[in-house]
Amino acid sequence: MLTIGIDIGTSAVKLLVMNESGQVIRTVSREYPLYMYNDGRSEQNPKDWWDETAAGLKEITQGLEPIAAVSFSGQMHGLVALDEHDNVLRPAILWNDQRTQAQCDYLNNVIGREKLLANAANIALTGFTAPKILWMRDNERHLFDKIHKVMLPKDYIAYKLTGVFATDYSDASGTLLLDVARKDWSDTLLEIMGLTRAQVPALYHSYQAIGTVTPKAADETGLPVAAKVVIGGGDQAVGAIGTGTVKSGTCSVSLGTSGVLFVAADDFAVDTGPSAIHSFCHATGQYHLMGVTLAAAGSAKWWYEGILETSDYEKEQAAMANNIGKNNVYYLPYLSGERTPHNDPLARGVFAGMSMTTTRSDMTQAVMEGVAFSLRDILSRVKDLGHTVTAARIIGGGAKSPVWCQIIADVLHLKVEKINATEGPAFGAAILAMVGAGAFGTVEEACDKLIRATDVYIPNQPAAESYDRHYPIYTGLYAALVGSFKAMSQVQ
Ligand code: XUL
Repeated sequence: MLTIGIDIGTSAVKLLVMNESGQVIRTVSREYPLYMYNDGRSEQNPKDWWDETAAGLKEITQGLEPIAAVSFSGQMHGLVALDEHDNVLRPAILWNDQRTQAQCDYLNNVIGREKLLANAANIALTGFTAPKILWMRDNERHLFDKIHKVMLPKDYIAYKLTGVFATDYSDASGTLLLDVARKDWSDTLLEIMGLTRAQVPALYHSYQAIGTVTPKAADETGLPVAAKVVIGGGDQAVGAIGTGTVKSGTCSVSLGTSGVLFVAADDFAVDTGPSAIHSFCHATGQYHLMGVTLAAAGSAKWWYEGILETSDYEKEQAAMANNIGKNNVYYLPYLSGERTPHNDPLARGVFAGMSMTTTRSDMTQAVMEGVAFSLRDILSRVKDLGHTVTAARIIGGGAKSPVWCQIIADVLHLKVEKINATEGPAFGAAILAMVGAGAFGTVEEACDKLIRATDVYIPNQPAAESYDRHYPIYTGLYAALVGSFKAMSQVQ
């Protein structure tokens, strides 16, 4: 049996064909434009997603046996609004769009954090979907009044393929309209946004088929009409499936542009503190907790390529292996502000602790350690919510560095594993398609059979103990500087 995983990313759609043994037979990636503006708006045209996905499907299915099922991983939170004739009303407002601060302030302060936490398990962040809906109501009333359907990016593609108006619990969790604990739309929040249940999609588990391909879509994509369309999920949850992070208490760390620490959980939990650890449904049918540090591999890229003007990362890291746990330079990775744990868009990057003997290598190491400390911030809040985490699977561009993997193991006191599959979300989507097509009974069973650890990094006790002494100094730096960050934002 062959399935296709489709990852609707922010820069491109990535597709892969997988067989039942988990072998990736073919991959295709097609880019589309991203419109980012100086005032923080970030948009894409859903038509571009569809055109490139359809073309990618045509290309990837050429000459292969009929595809049994497709499924999705989607960039989360993006608002796609359709009118009664299924026309897209305006460009999609994306996860990284920052226009909704006023709507978030209204939701968090006037509606109130307690009410949001009780009904949606999360507070309002500018990235989430509900503040974008309110923004349309406040600023584009003529378009808001025409909304017939709201959906998320991958749901639009599933709708184009099947004609079925559907989403899944993991992606719906990032809308701030889902009652995450009860796995149903929250009538309270729908009412606050001025929506009815008829305007939001039917809810499915990520591994469930919502239908098959319409004859028109079959023609446009080369998929057989019999192919099952399995709804899939948000990119973080589906990426976690792609690493086998499915059993309660298992953890994955993604060192992409942003860094994510993701913990699977059988039981629902909610963070009522200021860190706003996201409490979402997992694509397994259970729950997960997640925190996001905004500049992880992004910090490394900025430092190596922007400042040191080199792309030879390995050479820069060569001297570090004997210096792990011995560095006295600190780095706060807040180049783009910070999501977890500070939710502070005004925070900025900082180096501290240099002396006349500080070397280029010490500062490079500090960048990697600062990101690791930021992930430890997230992990310690997840632990506060009652989870025991002992190991993590690591993916993303930063995971290519053995030194960085070891630093993460030491700073977080976790066994860190690299795995045989490196495609992440598209691989997770192909697994969900396998489950939806009946090749495996459960997501957990599929992951057990298809994913295994390749390299393992065990915490080195002396280095880990040294990082325990450095960590409070790292956290103290943000506390000392938070007022300065605000002042910096006010000076021209
Ligand atoms: C998750 C998040 C990103 C987007 C885009 O909360 O904001 O992962 O889904 O990748």
